[in-house]
Amino acid sequence: PRHLLSIADLDADLIRTLLDTATQMQDVQRREVKKIPTLRGRTVINLFFEDSTRTRSSFEIAGKWMSADTINITGKGSSTSKGESLRDTVMTIDAMGVDALVMRHSASGAAHQVAGWVDAHVINAGDGTHEHPTQALLDAYTMEQRIGGLAGKHVVIVGDLTHSRVFRSNVLSLRMLGADVTVVAPVTLMPSGIRAWSETDGFALSNDLDPILTGDRGVDALMMLRVQKERMSGGYFPTAREYTVGYGLTRPRLQRLVADHPDVVICHPGPMNRGLEISADAADAAQSLILDQVAAGVAVRMSVLYHLLAGAEGGAA
Ligand code: CP
Repeated sequence: PRHLLSIADLDADLIRTLLDTATQMQDVQRREVKKIPTLRGRTVINLFFEDSTRTRSSFEIAGKWMSADTINITGKGSSTSKGESLRDTVMTIDAMGVDALVMRHSASGAAHQVAGWVDAHVINAGDGTHEHPTQALLDAYTMEQRIGGLAGKHVVIVGDLTHSRVFRSNVLSLRMLGADVTVVAPVTLMPSGIRAWSETDGFALSNDLDPILTGDRGVDALMMLRVQKERMSGGYFPTAREYTVGYGLTRPRLQRLVADHPDVVICHPGPMNRGLEISADAADAAQSLILDQVAAGVAVRMSVLYHLLAGAEGGAA
């Protein structure tokens, strides 16, 4: 594809290609090779209308390590704060002749809409509650590095499914790679339509975490999602305390999990609410891959930029 808007635009072979290229980018990430000239003369704009630490900085680092010129623009510092529309903003940036637009926006579908307005390649860095495709790619990459190929592995995703673009992208990529996926959430944080989707894409649903963690199926990877308080205008239910008791990776739950499954790995896309969905013991446990996920973000985003800007599709911008 010309853009990376959704995992649904990819297939297992394309995901494999992106992850394999990310592996090759590790030499640069290890700083054995300081910089590669692959994207010299290319300009990448990071246009972020929502806050970010990991995604924005790793896209900037990825571009710089491939010798692209990278520029960051945030919503607050742009002319959207003077009333300029999203369409005028992105067409203005596009008119300067940029090659790629990495975009985060609070509206689901925003990146898709923008892709229809600009000549640049568009990369979705998170659109509302819809998708966060590069997060899913780096999650698959990180898990594979530790537990091997994901085909037949059991990945359990727990948390605020209603607001999670990370969950939506991950279910698609994990199923394409052949993983068995179970998603767990309180009924109040399960989006409408999820039952029909689970039947179409073949993943399991549960409202009860402990039987999944102790069940005969075992757990190869446990992905805890952030409770997105900023997207819950009327407060949230269950309460924080109830959530932690029922769905948090607390210290006792971690101890039981590791005793049953010593090789389990724990992921969280970040930023974490320590003490709410994940305890400090779990976040910092030997089984935690959370900082490996952050590191993988650079290699995976290098791979995405490479394939869009320098690969077979790269001349099209
Ligand atoms: N996981 C993730 O998207 O983190 P940031 O919001 O810090 O980019």
